[in-house]
Amino acid sequence: MFVVTGATGNVGGHVVKELADAGAEVLALTRDPEAARLPEGVRAARTDELPLTGATGLFLNPAVVWQVGAGKLLERAKESGVRRIVMLSSSSVLADLDPQENPIGARHRALEADVEATGLEWTFVRPGAFAANAMQWVDQIKAGDVVYGPYAGAQMAPIHEADMGAVAARALLADDLVGQSPELTGPESLSFADQVRIIGEVIGRPLRYEEISHEAARERMAHGFVTPEIADSLLRVFAECVDRPQPISPEVERVTGRPGRTFAQWVEDCAAAFH
Ligand SMILES: NC(=O)c1ccc[n+]([C@@H]2O[C@H](COP(=O)([O-])OP(=O)(O)OC[C@H]3O[C@@H](n4cnc5c(N)ncnc54)[C@H](OP(=O)(O)O)[C@@H]3O)[C@@H](O)[C@H]2O)c1
Repeated sequence: MFVVTGATGNVGGHVVKELADAGAEVLALTRDPEAARLPEGVRAARTDELPLTGATGLFLNPAVVWQVGAGKLLERAKESGVRRIVMLSSSSVLADLDPQENPIGARHRALEADVEATGLEWTFVRPGAFAANAMQWVDQIKAGDVVYGPYAGAQMAPIHEADMGAVAARALLADDLVGQSPELTGPESLSFADQVRIIGEVIGRPLRYEEISHEAARERMAHGFVTPEIADSLLRVFAECVDRPQPISPEVERVTGRPGRTFAQWVEDCAAAFH
């Protein structure tokens, strides 16, 4: 049996689907099992109960793990006979850098080290920017044709969550990714301005991105979803990525056997959210 944390989320939802499609037994963890919409045959349980008895593989979403306590969860995994942990990490973790210089990389690397210390088999899936980050623009797009944000020219290679789910599921189901840390990107490098334009093309409206200052962006982010430290770190990354096309990783295609989904595909899959 495979246990998936963050099972209703962007990546976990696809890990659950891929495993269920492969015929595996899956237990999906969520704060609200009654409300979870899961593929047929997938059972749900409460995350904070850490129900790992009988699990052979575990998918770890750090966002969830940090909430329930990494030490407790990993200890329970060992006691319960889990053999393999596949952790959603981040390409902010730079190989061979110790200590990690940026706080996002440092946080993920610390959890990777805790996973390594369990002595269990592991795979660290290290994606760059999620295509799903574009959901941060939903309210602005519903309200008008202009999206305001920092660094219009900052380039990312946004990755579809389905591709991350496919790689993570493969790492649980087969043995070839044990001890590996595949870095994942989407198939194309796009600026924030490009991404907003593509959303407009797919949903049939002329959207444009208008740049606001670093300070204004910092203010907004720090009052929103991230700590001031993380906001500074993200803005530093955006500034460094202006007009710098991102290298495209071959790993999604190597692992899944098909090219990564494009950003336009992601918008099509999520178009309902933008109307
Ligand atoms: N965004 C990026 O560009 C990026 C890049 C690299 C790596 N990452 C990594 O990916 C992670 C996010 O993955 P994701 O987008 O798949 O996650 P997500 O969809 O934001 O969340 C996953 C699930 O976690 C549960 N959850 C949310 N808040 C919680 C809380 N306070 N306590 C317990 N459970 C909670 C929710 O499920 P229930 O409501 O069902 O419990 C949610 O569906 C980041 O934290 C980071 O580690 C992100």
